[in-house]
Amino acid sequence: MLSIEENGLLTRTGPGTPMGSLMRQYWLPAVRTDELPEPDCPPVRIRLLSENLIAFRTSSGKVGLIGNHCPHRGASLFYGRNEEDGLRCVYHGWKYDITGQCVDMPSEPPESTFKSKVKATAYPCEERGGIVWTYMGPRETPPPLPDLESNMVAANVVTQQIECNWVQAMENNMDTSHGNFLHLGAVDFNNGSALADAFLKDQTFKYMISQEPLTFLLFDTETGASYAAQRPAEKDTYYYRIMNYHFPSYTQSPTNKIETACDYTAEVPIDDTHTMQWIMTSPDPRKPSGGHGRTLPNTTEWLGRFRPEVNSANDMEIDRHVQRYDRTLDGYTGIQGIENQDRGITESQGDIQDRSTEHLGSTDAMVIKVRRLLISAAKALDEEGTVPPGVDRPEAYRRRSGTIVLPKEVDVWEATKVLREAFKGVVV
Ligand code: FES
Ligand SMILES: [Fe+2]
Repeated sequence: MLSIEENGLLTRTGPGTPMGSLMRQYWLPAVRTDELPEPDCPPVRIRLLSENLIAFRTSSGKVGLIGNHCPHRGASLFYGRNEEDGLRCVYHGWKYDITGQCVDMPSEPPESTFKSKVKATAYPCEERGGIVWTYMGPRETPPPLPDLESNMVAANVVTQQIECNWVQAMENNMDTSHGNFLHLGAVDFNNGSALADAFLKDQTFKYMISQEPLTFLLFDTETGASYAAQRPAEKDTYYYRIMNYHFPSYTQSPTNKIETACDYTAEVPIDDTHTMQWIMTSPDPRKPSGGHGRTLPNTTEWLGRFRPEVNSANDMEIDRHVQRYDRTLDGYTGIQGIENQDRGITESQGDIQDRSTEHLGSTDAMVIKVRRLLISAAKALDEEGTVPPGVDRPEAYRRRSGTIVLPKEVDVWEATKVLREAFKGVVV
């Protein structure tokens, strides 16, 4: 439970807020590379951390991210002409390069130097692995991009918009205990159905669905925190699910065996009540894809990008008959598809979940831990200027998560040290 003030501090990321300042210390995924498919293509409206921005790809192929309002008299640069390495406002013809510098001011006399004094808000961008990253922070020279394995070895990116605050979207990714209910609650693993058999083919899966109590082991890391969820396996072994949280909003869920798991999910605030979820996945064909359902065609509206077809406006297309009678993955909820179940339930917590009225239990240990980390890092930055974790340590993001069975007497953290390192072993 948080106070109303703490909840506000945790969740709000607009300009000038403590958590917004924390977010702006890091590179953030802003636009998909394929949203700007070619030089001088149409600009795209991007809302990020509650700022309205215009993304455009220049004649030479670079990406610019510039404030929506032209510094002259505020016309939207969305209507701009994307030409000759700059974006030209169509109101009076002022033109800006990707640094925001006004480079042409045809409405002023030719001898005027006024244009050199006009600069639009603009954020540096870098492209990697199918994502245009941006840095919205105060540094003249941005820190390095974080070393995210799947984003560096592949361009497999899945995006979907979630209609709620980023923190609850992220907390869902850290909540291992919901799986047995929300997703698996109706599956009868003893009935010999094809579905049950498919699950049980994974030797370790049966440990996850056992009703044995779960022990959460929490670990501090350089970039945030991890847990190992420990369940009894055989007489002399434990089954562990290791999950990583990295500042500011990356999660690595234990969806696969630890040596094959290098996915990262980033929950990036569009504004305080909308989140863009970015899943950077490994190219490994042996892994089940964590893909999403269909999205509606993108529109040019601020909130028009990657909106799922199944959404809260249609009650996630819940089927009460399926909910009552079905024994498949869709049966417990009546909502089709794991990603729809997650998103539907996360949005149902409210635009911004009121954490002053919740009742946390023992399986919420990681959620509690990460909230505390975020709040104290935002305060430390706000009050003392302390740079938050990971900003200048890109290599500390080289981590994997996943599942493993180990002898009971072994220390899980020590025993998985090498397996948790990225760019090693099986996956790539
Ligand atoms: S408002 Fe953009 S050039 Fe005048
Ligand atoms: Fe889930």
